[in-house]
Amino acid sequence: MATVALEPSFQAERELLSTSRVGITDTTFRDAHQSLLATRMTTAQMVPVAARMNSIGFHSMEVWGGATFDACIRFLGEDPWERLKVLRRAMPDTRLQMLVRGQNLLGYHHYPDDIVRRFIRRSVASGIDIIRTFDALNDLRNMRSTIDAGKECGAHVQGTLVYTVSPIHDLEHYLSSARELAGFGIDSLCIKDMAGLLKPDAARSLVQGLRSVVGALPIQLHSHSLSGMASMSYWEAIQAGANVIDTAISPLAFGSSQPATETMVVVLKGTPYETGLDIDALVDVAEYFERIFRDAGNAPIRQTIIDTRVLSHQVPGGMITNLLAQLDQQRASHRLQEVLRELPKVRADFGYPPLVTPTSQIVGTQAVMNVLLGERYKILPEEVRSYLLGYYGRPPAPVCEHLLARVIAEGGVPITQRPADTLEPGWDRAKAESAPWATSEEDILIYALFPKVALNFLQQRHSKSEDKLTPVRLPGLQEVAHLVRGFVAAPNIEHFECESGKLKIRLSRT
Ligand code: CO
Repeated sequence: MATVALEPSFQAERELLSTSRVGITDTTFRDAHQSLLATRMTTAQMVPVAARMNSIGFHSMEVWGGATFDACIRFLGEDPWERLKVLRRAMPDTRLQMLVRGQNLLGYHHYPDDIVRRFIRRSVASGIDIIRTFDALNDLRNMRSTIDAGKECGAHVQGTLVYTVSPIHDLEHYLSSARELAGFGIDSLCIKDMAGLLKPDAARSLVQGLRSVVGALPIQLHSHSLSGMASMSYWEAIQAGANVIDTAISPLAFGSSQPATETMVVVLKGTPYETGLDIDALVDVAEYFERIFRDAGNAPIRQTIIDTRVLSHQVPGGMITNLLAQLDQQRASHRLQEVLRELPKVRADFGYPPLVTPTSQIVGTQAVMNVLLGERYKILPEEVRSYLLGYYGRPPAPVCEHLLARVIAEGGVPITQRPADTLEPGWDRAKAESAPWATSEEDILIYALFPKVALNFLQQRHSKSEDKLTPVRLPGLQEVAHLVRGFVAAPNIEHFECESGKLKIRLSRT
């Protein structure tokens, strides 16, 4: 058994480890709206309630990363870096957390190490305290650069293993991966159950097993409610020694999102695993979200609250929406069930990858094509070829040898090394190509991650800044009132300021 040097970077970790108190990571500003609102919550919707959330005493808040970066520039016309800085100022007492997909950062393919290093450094400089990093294949080599970069700039780095169910993914897979990950010097370990497949009894034995290999390293559990099991699994995991769980405020909880924060706070109250969070403050926050969704007319999408079919097809909620969109384009949405039956077969041919971005898209797209073209593997998309050849990392089990042989016969070159080792450094090129519109390192990073979308975004911003008469969208009076109420209710906050467009609001205590 590897020995793990434990140097928690924050006081809260020491407290957690010395008591059985359970920490809560609130996902409302990231995973919850990614799961229920197609990642469309705007910064203006977050800011009025941020001070109130800051006062609640969460272990951390997941506010950035995942799909939020892409959604900001692609759909919302918002600068994701600006959002992070605004939230940092609004929530000075809460540790802010981001999700990165290992070497994929916030995109869908691997980036060179120099881009990874700069991106992580800039994220921490802009306000991120905790970096949760994972790889879709649990190929630990793909997490190494993000871990090292995070450690270099003093962040708390949370190594993450994605949870799935397959003939390959037994307890030993997780324990040996966790042991190796702990040796990378991570500050905590997270189990990411993106489709809600982790059953309560499996949660218990998993956490017990992990505890025996990672020593005192904090263990966090992230799950989704779609199958209806997540809150039960949390309870079992907590009793087995998990230190932190991920939840979302009730209007943005359940369904394909996380269990509700209020539920878990009440469940744990009066037990040895007390969270210490103020339920009244949580109710205020819940009321805020109920009201803004009603006013803005963008209520969370819940096709069904519980869908146990997820246990057979394993497709996370967000991915079903993607599949439906792909089918819709071909006027074939009535063929979803066929695709859901085809998907596990494709997954087996591909060596049982866990289904999470980007493998969920790779497997999903192939399944859609297999069904619509009436012949399996008639066409192999470029991403599928790269995947089979090893450019996303090592699949959990060997891929179908006929498919691999065909891709090689058609000119593909398989690799066994870490995929990013095949990439040239990318910074200088991104800098040169984005020069006409990029005005900062942050702009260049937006371009490096999403070149096409970034050009559109940066050009539009450029033309806006030349048009001095562009009207400023003022926050609604209700939003301002809520902001002031939140400030008054949080006596530990001395000073608050936020910026939206060309408007700045400053609140200070006298
Ligand atoms: Co999630």
